[in-house]
Amino acid sequence: MRNHSLLLWVLLFVDGVFGAAEVSVSVMKGDSVTLHTDVSELQSDDIIEWMCEDNLIIAEVKNNKYEIKNNIPTNGVPDRSYEGRLELDHKTGSLTIKNITSQHEGTYILDIRGRHLISKNFTVTVHDGVKNISVKKGESVTLRTGVIDIQRYDWILWKFEDHLIAEINKETNQFILYDSSDKRFKDRLQPNEKTGSLTISDSETTDSGHYHLHMSSSTYTLQRIISVTVKGLSSIVIAVISVTVALVVAVALMIYCWCRSRQRSFGEDQLNQSQDQHESIHDSITTLTIYT
Ligand SMILES: *[C@@H]1O[C@H](CO)[C@@H](O)[C@H](O)[C@H]1NC(C)=O
Ligand SMILES: *[C@@H]1O[C@H](CO)[C@@H](O)[C@H](O)[C@H]1NC(C)=O
Ligand SMILES: *[C@@H]1O[C@H](CO)[C@@H](O)[C@H](O)[C@H]1NC(C)=O
Repeated sequence: MRNHSLLLWVLLFVDGVFGAAEVSVSVMKGDSVTLHTDVSELQSDDIIEWMCEDNLIIAEVKNNKYEIKNNIPTNGVPDRSYEGRLELDHKTGSLTIKNITSQHEGTYILDIRGRHLISKNFTVTVHDGVKNISVKKGESVTLRTGVIDIQRYDWILWKFEDHLIAEINKETNQFILYDSSDKRFKDRLQPNEKTGSLTISDSETTDSGHYHLHMSSSTYTLQRIISVTVKGLSSIVIAVISVTVALVVAVALMIYCWCRSRQRSFGEDQLNQSQDQHESIHDSITTLTIYT
């Protein structure tokens, strides 16, 4: 008992020093967020309780049994339901909330007893963010982390579908771009070293797809999918343009031919007229000759 309370004091002291007991987590609607227990491997006598604000247990580990509570009262708010949204990591006991909505904002309380003794509160805030970007071919696209400063994150990476395109090296605090291995983005990626956001310039229709963001700090991990649509000229637009051009050319040709034929007949008329005149002059000359 004495040992236990001593340990508790030490823990409180350590927590107090590092401020680890109170964690604030900022995510965007639709993100998937994992709250870390900081346990590298659970022991069989560890008891874990994850609670939401009303002290309702949403997930627990007891006697090596893992349980996610799916029927937590949500007072008839369907968006608040955790059904299908929770995952427990069997090794660490970390809790993942998938596709988070603003209804899931609030404090999540972690309580671990047994071999490990951990008590932490995670205050989760959910912001609105652009997850669906649509641009015209040639415009630039900015994929945002939504954070002002990436200092507190240990690693950040951006993927396009399954390909790694950018990563932050925490040691050097530098962005590494993988645009030369994937020729698609060659010289078109611009990272923001402060916010971790990534801009794709001069977009191509082949840039359309899902971009994955992974951000990880010591206390939580965030995963986000941003879908990008780059619109080129659609085949219908191309067809309409082709038909219009063909029509304009045809009309121009018709007008040209019509003018030409008009000119030709006008010329013939003139020729006939001058011939008539010529003949009459000739006649007069003849007449003149007769008179002399
Ligand atoms: C966490 O929150 C609960 C309820 O709001 C509070 O009783 C507890 O003291 C907090 N724990 C820590 C470690 O801050
Ligand atoms: C995410 O949650 C929202 C709101 O409950 C829901 O409409 C949407 O279908 C969910 N998306 C996925 C991918 O589960
Ligand atoms: C995102 O945009 C695409 C294309 O504009 C659309 O088909 C899709 O339904 C949108 N998805 C969401 C979740 O709004």
